[in-house]
Amino acid sequence: MAWNILQALWLFLPAYVANMAPVFVAKILPRWNAPIDGGRVAADGNRILGPGKTWRGLVGGVVLGSMTAVVVALLAPHWDIMNGWDYGHAGYAGGLPGTPCTDCPQSSWAAVAITGGILGGMALVGDAVKSYFKRRRGIDRGGSWFPFDQLDFVVFGILGLLAASPILAPGWVFGALLADWSVLATLLVLTPALHLLVNRIGYWLGLKEVPW
Ligand code: CTP
Ligand code: MG
Repeated sequence: MAWNILQALWLFLPAYVANMAPVFVAKILPRWNAPIDGGRVAADGNRILGPGKTWRGLVGGVVLGSMTAVVVALLAPHWDIMNGWDYGHAGYAGGLPGTPCTDCPQSSWAAVAITGGILGGMALVGDAVKSYFKRRRGIDRGGSWFPFDQLDFVVFGILGLLAASPILAPGWVFGALLADWSVLATLLVLTPALHLLVNRIGYWLGLKEVPW
């Protein structure tokens, strides 16, 4: 079970990185702040998504999610230390130096990169969908809405993984997500806790304006 918790975090790393990406990209490219909603206002008088949801953030999430997935696949162990669910063998990709597993189903590197992009992109689509509902509830940009602020990218990230399933090694996504109940539990319960911790650190470091 301990392995499954680590596996779940490892599996979802592209979504975690993508979810943090917009804050960093905003620091690097502060002027590229074109909002996804184009500045439009809904019938209730509030912005459709708000100024915190930019194309820059979405694209940054796709690119960094994709890069993270490739790094995850490169660093994946090629020996069976993660009993039953081995990234190196049947994981995102395989065939790198280490212990080769010629019979195991492998994902192509292109599929890995695309999966990371989908996972990262979906994480931020979830973030934007969440903002839509925040605005409809009259919560301003940056206002807190627990637990949706924490879970948006997890739920949409899982949907992204399922969407990428056909291009990865057969059965791998379902095998990974359903390897043990603790995988989904980690994603749905541990992630919000980690999210709150990471945001607090980001606030202390001056990267985030609010501690949530
Ligand atoms: N960000 C961005 N583009 C996105 C998502 C986030 O540029 N698609 C940047 C914005 O600068 C945003 C910051 O990352 O302010 C923090 O993201 P988040 O907490 O998701 O946005 P909030 O500003 O809190 O807005 P909301 O209330 O709509 O969640
Ligand atoms: Mg926020």
